[in-house]
Amino acid sequence: MTQIYNWEKNIDEFELNTVINAIKNDKLAILPTETVYGLAASAFSDKACKKIFEVKGRAQDNPLIVHIANKNMIYDIAEAPNEIEEKLIDSFMPGPFTLILNKKDCICNTVTCFGKTVGIRMPNNKIIHEVIKKSNIPLAAPSANISTRPSGTCIEDIKDEFYNKVDFLIDGGKCNIGIESTVVKVVDNIPVILRPGFITEDDIKKVIGCVKLSDKLLKKIDVNENVESPGMKYKHYSPNTKCYLAKNDINQINKVNDFLFSKNDNCCVVGFTEDKEYINIPDNKFICLGSKNNLEEISSNLFSCLRKIDTLNCDIAIIEGLNEKNLGLSIMNRLIKACDGNII
Ligand code: TXA
Ligand code: MG
Repeated sequence: MTQIYNWEKNIDEFELNTVINAIKNDKLAILPTETVYGLAASAFSDKACKKIFEVKGRAQDNPLIVHIANKNMIYDIAEAPNEIEEKLIDSFMPGPFTLILNKKDCICNTVTCFGKTVGIRMPNNKIIHEVIKKSNIPLAAPSANISTRPSGTCIEDIKDEFYNKVDFLIDGGKCNIGIESTVVKVVDNIPVILRPGFITEDDIKKVIGCVKLSDKLLKKIDVNENVESPGMKYKHYSPNTKCYLAKNDINQINKVNDFLFSKNDNCCVVGFTEDKEYINIPDNKFICLGSKNNLEEISSNLFSCLRKIDTLNCDIAIIEGLNEKNLGLSIMNRLIKACDGNII
């Protein structure tokens, strides 16, 4: 049976101890972070981490990120960072940032899928921080969604998906950032972004002076391709409804309207506040991402909007795209996957 605790206003000490004891005994807890909810287990326990893969239906070669509470925990689980890695840690942790380092043996092989590296993240959220700090256990936690589905940014969106499949659901309210952390690996002294997130290319460049983007961030990738980060190649963020992405350009609104006109299907549109009045769709078929001038707002609403698509029972959803720069790139990375490469 799944226990649901609400710690949005305060963390109940008794419940906190119950969750920590359970984690020590290979149980699973869904916990909030500032990016998305995570499906957490002890990173020391092969048995518990195997359950994460089962519950999510996750590909066996897709490693998990390990969450820590303070800098000392990094040295416990990974080989010493070099100067550039240290600078990234000091600049972006705690925060929506994951750094790939060489792992130590205490991190179980299930977490890393038998690889030599481990993704490390120090979340900036009081609830998961308290659980890690008080237990002194690093937590392996992928995004809390069944594989291929959009990530979960509030308990209401994911409780049905996980009810009776995990031991605890901890409600911490809405995740304010809304998209997952930026995943970075330093290669030949240059930080390479393997997954774009809230910490952008420009943010990293300001601190280190250089940064590279993986060339695979805006592409559909074949599952047999060799990639730096396995998560890149899998279907993700996808509603069950077939989705099309209207790429951002000056004709975007016309393109959406022409597409709507050409289809006999029952369509809905996911778009921006400013464009709503110009798009030929009834109010109840328009899902609002937020203002196109406020990328933080769009990022925070993104996954709930993608989940809402299926509740409208349409045949097709058309999603308005953004300029692919910085946070816009991170959002477009998710949308291209959500649309499975269908672009208009
Ligand atoms: O914001 C986040 O990062 C959230 C919250 C819960 O912390 N977590 C998250 O985990 O998004 P997940 O498992 O959904 O995505 C982790 C991504 C995957 O694309 C995976 O392939 C990549 O990070 N990754 C993990 N460990 C890696 C490693 N050692 N080398 C390369 N990529 C790695
Ligand atoms: Mg995920």
